[in-house]
Amino acid sequence: MIMNEIIMKKRDKHVLSDEEIKFFVDGYTKGEIPDYQVSALLMAIVLNGMNKKETNALTMAMLHSGETVDLSKIKGPKVDKHSTGGVGDKTSLVLGPLVASCGVKVAKMSGRGLGHTGGTLDKLESIPGMRIDLSPAQFEKQVNDIGISIIGQTGNLVPADKKLYALRDVTGTVRSVSLVAASIMSKKLATGADAICLDVKYGSGAFFEDVPNSVKLAKTMIAIGDSMGVDTRAVISNMQQPLGFAVGNNLEVKEAIATLKGNGPADLVELCLEAGSVMLVQAKLYKSYDKARSILEKNLKNGKAYERFYQMVKAQGGDVSYLEHPEKFANSKHIIPVISSKNGYVDAINALEIGEASMLLGAGRAKKEDSIDYASGIVLCKKCGYQVKKSDVLAYLHTNKDDYQDQIKMVGKAFVITSKQVKPEKIVKKVVE
Ligand code: URA
Repeated sequence: MIMNEIIMKKRDKHVLSDEEIKFFVDGYTKGEIPDYQVSALLMAIVLNGMNKKETNALTMAMLHSGETVDLSKIKGPKVDKHSTGGVGDKTSLVLGPLVASCGVKVAKMSGRGLGHTGGTLDKLESIPGMRIDLSPAQFEKQVNDIGISIIGQTGNLVPADKKLYALRDVTGTVRSVSLVAASIMSKKLATGADAICLDVKYGSGAFFEDVPNSVKLAKTMIAIGDSMGVDTRAVISNMQQPLGFAVGNNLEVKEAIATLKGNGPADLVELCLEAGSVMLVQAKLYKSYDKARSILEKNLKNGKAYERFYQMVKAQGGDVSYLEHPEKFANSKHIIPVISSKNGYVDAINALEIGEASMLLGAGRAKKEDSIDYASGIVLCKKCGYQVKKSDVLAYLHTNKDDYQDQIKMVGKAFVITSKQVKPEKIVKKVVE
């Protein structure tokens, strides 16, 4: 096969065969096809799209480019959850222990943060002593014993995605429903769960700002999962503002602990209950979302979800005294208020701007190699729908850096304040099956 002909075929809006797709994925993974040819093909895919069959073939070629995880030694229903990436998104820290406390086996491999989005592993590592590098045997044993473990990726899973994602990141080819769907689903399918619950975000911090494209992405991923016999469903959730109040690693862990102790922000709690209901039904523990939700509500209130989180942290070497006394987490050198310049109501809080400001304050990485400062980030004081008065504090910046003037401006600008009272949108727009 000739790569140049495959590029021209997609340029001219034709459908690629399974063999052609496998040829370019395998060739690129092995280093036999150069970046410039794959970049050209990716751009043709972004512009001309892929149909369902092509998207499935791309996912399969990527999935089989490396090793896959075998979770068959873990007894019980294994349901995985994946978020398309948000700001302040500490859902996994709450949802994982919550559904585990109801009988779902959570064997989760998470990622690190890059750019404006945070990563679950970085958040977990802000708990002193916490290990995310368990061996496969330790991982399996922990999930069998206490129902949950969250670790970093082991083995050489989906090497094609590592190369393709890095190339897409620098060639303006990230935003394509087929490419995003194949990238996410190849990785999820490689980690061996029985069912997958996707949290597909829309809004300012998300891949797609609008609901229709987010639903299209969700449906594309669901079709891929179904074609592999893996029950895949999605909640479409709102990223018109960061999730909860805290953005940044130990700040988010503190908010997750408060949520697990029954004192969480309304949007985070609602998202965990909605996604959790879907996961319990997928695990076949309950037939209806309503019944599942009532059990989740109970376990969030009676301390059972917190207990699972505690057990997980302890089993992975984390210092649980930080969970009992969250005031022990390190504070940053500076805590700076961002003040409102007008009266009105908060209409939106640009999550992308908040995420970027938080990264610049030290909470995230601009490049993969950058180190992060666990105590840095942003704590919002106002959320959508809140009334604000001139000189009210909108948010606090937390940082160990001495130069934060630009971030004060960024965060101030991220708040859209209108004169009319606004009703905030619900956090979960819909569930797609
Ligand atoms: N997350 C991924 O893992 N891949 C994408 O392409 C987009 C988001």
